[in-house]
Amino acid sequence: MNEVFDFVIIGSGVAGLYSALNFPENTKVLLLTKKRVEDCNTNQAQGGIAAAVDEGDSWKLHAADTLNASASLCEEEAVEILTKEGPKEIKRLMNMGMEFDHKNGKIDFTLEGAHGKRRILHAGGDATGKKLREFLSEKVGKKKNVKIVENALVLELLKNNSGRVNGVLALEDGIFKFYKARAVILASGGCGALYESTTNPDVATGDGIAMAYEAGAEIMDMEFIQFHPTALYNPKGLSFLISESVRGEGAILLNEKGERFMPKYHEKAELAPRDVVSRAIMSEMKRLKTPYVWLDATHLGSEYIQERFPTIFKTLMKYGIDMRKDRIPVAPAAHYTMGGVKTDTFGRTNIPGLYACGEVACTGVHGANRLASNSLLEGLVFSHRAVLSAQREEMESDDEVEIQKIMQKYENRSKMVSKAKEIRRELRHKLSLYAGVERNESDLRIFLKWIKEKNEGLEEGWNEDIWKTRKALTVGALIAKAALLRNESRGAHFRKDHPESKKEWENFHIITTNKGG
Ligand code: SIN
Repeated sequence: MNEVFDFVIIGSGVAGLYSALNFPENTKVLLLTKKRVEDCNTNQAQGGIAAAVDEGDSWKLHAADTLNASASLCEEEAVEILTKEGPKEIKRLMNMGMEFDHKNGKIDFTLEGAHGKRRILHAGGDATGKKLREFLSEKVGKKKNVKIVENALVLELLKNNSGRVNGVLALEDGIFKFYKARAVILASGGCGALYESTTNPDVATGDGIAMAYEAGAEIMDMEFIQFHPTALYNPKGLSFLISESVRGEGAILLNEKGERFMPKYHEKAELAPRDVVSRAIMSEMKRLKTPYVWLDATHLGSEYIQERFPTIFKTLMKYGIDMRKDRIPVAPAAHYTMGGVKTDTFGRTNIPGLYACGEVACTGVHGANRLASNSLLEGLVFSHRAVLSAQREEMESDDEVEIQKIMQKYENRSKMVSKAKEIRRELRHKLSLYAGVERNESDLRIFLKWIKEKNEGLEEGWNEDIWKTRKALTVGALIAKAALLRNESRGAHFRKDHPESKKEWENFHIITTNKGG
């Protein structure tokens, strides 16, 4: 055993960092992150954090908007907790020194799709996630009880004979490390980067979901992948998020012919729920045979654009687009994993000792379509609750990790690298093609058959590339199997062969387990 901690946290986004911050000083905490601390989805979040903190707003109104966007799949208890406890967490952060943008001495709330009120707090204009991540990193960095290890690839969740998670196996600079703990907090994020076009950083490959599944955790709602309507269309390189708050502040969507199309799809036009806007864009793209539509913010004013959206403005300038006078080519891109490791409202999974919070978890709080800017809030509220609950876990005295037995799996090092990488590249393409904004039965079956063949074609031996490829294939299969089973359309899950929502699927979650786990 390399080291013993009270708690091991996997992931350095808002859920991981806020967990680390909330564990008391008398506990020994290890935070492992796959690359650098800043390589996480939180760091990329632009729009903000939704919370009913303004006068005249209330948690009930926020809850009603969350439920309306969710397409009748939200867990109402989780929504109540999120919207009631959210404002308390925001005030707590502000008391600790977190600064949100103000205008005329008051918090400058913005508006995003499907919100009935301007309730989104933002920081640094359009750099809310980065500012929050920096703030939390700084606070956690001062805690003597927390050790952070970067470039640590967690390979396995370890379990004792009674089936309790009691540690992790990680790979750090090519060295295997065993860490034992009272409980493990999974905060490793979603799987958007498994798609070809995504707003996520490359670390968001769903490893945590695959590892938890392999350990026997219940995985819920994986058919619901949220596609952000407006990512920069960039055929030559990476996509980039153009925040919904740009539309919230008045930007409009135009098709190739320069016609504004959203009013004909929804009464809230550009501020309709995300799934509606994404499908409307796809439909215009198909109709006019173009790979993008235009986002037009030119009427918002030069100064305002530069001040309110500095990150987007500067990034677009690098691509030769001046949003003060140019329309921005945009298309939907994979953005958020609504499904994940099933937990209760205290982050508990079905495996004792294993907790999950943030995007990797699924409390059911987002239903079939997450309301904009509810994700940073989710990370704060549910990680705090997971920490409160995990502290009740005790270290079991006869809880030894069977290192030699586990290491047998890693003895046979394989040289297969390029084939494994090629499979991951193909997976991104096929996942986007067969399990993207639109799906149908025959495509999903073709995709699942392909996954099976590729899994069988991988060598028995071990190396990081084979490991990453197997995890990616596992997550791809979880998405495709759930998408195949749900023979209806709901929220972000759209079946071309079943375009209507069905009563029998309302409030019904697909939960998958690996019985052998
Ligand atoms: C955005 O700024 O559009 C992203 C906000 C979110 O995904 O909640």
